Amino acid sequence: MLTVYELRSRISKLPRVSLGHFPTPIEFCPRLTEAVGGPRIFIKRDDCTGLAFGGNKTRQLEFTVGQGVHHEADVLIGGAGSQSNHCRQLSAAAAKLGLECRIAVVEDHKTEESKGNLLLDDLLGASVQTVDVPTQEELDVAKEQVASDVRSEGKNPFVVMKPENRPYGAMGYALAVAEMSEQMDALGERVDAIVGCSGSCTQPGMIFGNKVLGLGARVYGIAPIEWSYDIKDAFLGVLTRMVELLGVDLAFDREDVWNSPDYIGSEGYGYCSEAGNEALRLMATTEGVILDPIYTGKALSGLIDLAKKGELGSDETVVFLHTGGTPALFAYTEELLGKA
Ligand SMILES: Cc1ncc(COP(=O)(O)O)c(C=O)c1O
Repeated sequence: MLTVYELRSRISKLPRVSLGHFPTPIEFCPRLTEAVGGPRIFIKRDDCTGLAFGGNKTRQLEFTVGQGVHHEADVLIGGAGSQSNHCRQLSAAAAKLGLECRIAVVEDHKTEESKGNLLLDDLLGASVQTVDVPTQEELDVAKEQVASDVRSEGKNPFVVMKPENRPYGAMGYALAVAEMSEQMDALGERVDAIVGCSGSCTQPGMIFGNKVLGLGARVYGIAPIEWSYDIKDAFLGVLTRMVELLGVDLAFDREDVWNSPDYIGSEGYGYCSEAGNEALRLMATTEGVILDPIYTGKALSGLIDLAKKGELGSDETVVFLHTGGTPALFAYTEELLGKA
């Protein structure tokens, strides 16, 4: 186990660029707590991390783009669904650092409308190309093709969004847990559970931070997407590499990972779910805080369900991690108004 100071000092040895506004606020949600009728709910406002409307990618990009800068890249490459928050924040990071950004997005049901995140990618100066592949997982070839085009122009590309870069991104969330624990200590609160949306870096980072600091909270991940591979194995791969990178004496197993695809909704990734949209409205009308329909609304619907089932006890204290994503709201107006 490490102290917060030791964790920060080990992570400080890794390449990193400064992109965000930290610490983000943590706030008690009295009216949401009452409406849910379950645990006391606090919200960790990672929608306030800065970098083109904020979100969880800011913390991750400090390290993943840090790797690119370390490799002296002059072009950053990313790719995901067309309303990707990651691509929007990567575009912003590249702009801030004076680097070029090229993005490959999946041709999906939101590609046609240059709204929300796609509009922001363009405003931030990224060059966006759409690729006709069935899912994000098949984008790797396209990203490598972009990298090879960049090389043939005599430039040095760095593909930011690839699996081997995830442990670096997750470092941002080990630090977020340290930040959260200090804030909750200062409020005289203990944390029984943390709930947030995650499918790649955020939750492994939180699991790592929680265990290495000995906080003893339960970390619940609500998946936004169902991958073709086993998510526990993928998270354990990230955790094992974090252990190596930081040289800590710690082991993780499948019991350490709780991640559920149950709240994605019947239409799958990138589509709204009824429960997610209801949760989004509940948060907005009780606390004046805006979530997004694809990630954080669904995550709150998961928290509410876990509270109903008694998995989150009514005498417990839960931190809901707001991972951002709000610009996508403006690409989902019809769905949110119940017209689609
Ligand atoms: C708003 C939002 N929340 C959560 C996630 C999941 O984050 P991660 O892939 O790091 O687990 C994403 C990323 O896709 C996101 O954009």
